[in-house]
Amino acid sequence: MPSIHRIVLYRLLAAWVVISLAIGVVVSWAGLRKIDRQLVTLATMELKRFGAVNLALLTQPESARRALDQLAAQVVWEHFIVGEFQDGSRRRLASAVNPLHAALQTEVERQSLSFPLNLDRQFRKFSADGRNAMRVLVPLREDSGPAAAYFEGAFLVDPDTVARLREDLATTLLVALAAVALTTLCLYPIILSLNRNVLRQSRDLLAGNVELMEVVGSAVATRDSSTHLHNYRVALYAVRLGEAVGIDATQMRDLIAGAFLHDVGKIGVGDAILLKAGPLDAGEFEQMKRHVTLGVEILTKSKWLLRAREVVEFHHERYDGSGYPKGLAGVEIPLLARIFAVVDVFDALVSKRPYKDALAFDVAMAGIRDGAGKLFDPDLVTIFEGIAGALYRETRDVAGAEVEARLQLQIGKYFGLTA
Ligand SMILES: [Fe+2]
Ligand SMILES: [Fe+2]
Repeated sequence: MPSIHRIVLYRLLAAWVVISLAIGVVVSWAGLRKIDRQLVTLATMELKRFGAVNLALLTQPESARRALDQLAAQVVWEHFIVGEFQDGSRRRLASAVNPLHAALQTEVERQSLSFPLNLDRQFRKFSADGRNAMRVLVPLREDSGPAAAYFEGAFLVDPDTVARLREDLATTLLVALAAVALTTLCLYPIILSLNRNVLRQSRDLLAGNVELMEVVGSAVATRDSSTHLHNYRVALYAVRLGEAVGIDATQMRDLIAGAFLHDVGKIGVGDAILLKAGPLDAGEFEQMKRHVTLGVEILTKSKWLLRAREVVEFHHERYDGSGYPKGLAGVEIPLLARIFAVVDVFDALVSKRPYKDALAFDVAMAGIRDGAGKLFDPDLVTIFEGIAGALYRETRDVAGAEVEARLQLQIGKYFGLTA
């Protein structure tokens, strides 16, 4: 299981990248628009350097043609490639071409831009011979009145100015990204701490559920065998056989719970039958068989314990179909129940009970082999034969506490309760 540090770090990193990208796009878009606006302002200021345009002059074009021509020539002198004064209907009154940029004039004329009338100043960027240029249209008016005339020109953008504005944009972007990174770093310990609390609570909850499973299973087991160790041993055997079979972690958790709770329904079987020393008659056996359905009923009271259902409900089914409660055969019997049936019987055979002695390992294994295809899935018996010897040695003559400790390790591993 990946550490909480790594999970929080990866998620914050992902959030930082996404937020940074979003902020980068917005800041860049806004910054580029700002650059455009500043360039237009520069172009407009360039115009103003030549003083207020005499609107009266513009409205009397015939009498002031010479003066206008001079003004246009002044305007284009520095950064403008071409400049043109127009009347209120956009008819040309006077125009001039900057002799320094005469080579660009053809390029500029190819930019056949048409600005709509009666709007505020407008601009459009274009490239003139590889240089950034801008076409501007500036309405000329008295205070807030309608445009009495227009100035339209092609403004050559100073590369140093653009570089400076782009540097400003890059700085703004860096500051924004650094602010996001700093916020993310500040959030890291806070989120980590919150997650630790949640994880601790969910671990406690899980540990409580596992304890409940052990307590319920042990309580029932001690009724008929005076020891709860049968449950621990079969759970340990089931884990080993499950690992040899290759079941996944979810199935393993269900198998462990099933092993603990397989006979939980025996709580509803009377002592006279449950503790009877001799063989059960047919009526008593029917009563005993009820422990399977009783067990399922008990499990349905707890969503968490219900994970044991597959084993509890089907652990007395037999491979040849002669078992109960449904008489399922072969692979109709759920896999976990088939696995459990082998280890449950094996432990019963090699354990001492009030009414019988423990069988020797070889004798018990002969019994298991004999049950292949009848009681048990033959493939599982074959796999079990491969691990049974080591399993038997692992638990024979070992104190109950040691068996419990070994199983606890497996429970910790599969239920994620290890540190
Ligand atoms: Fe049973
Ligand atoms: Fe059992």
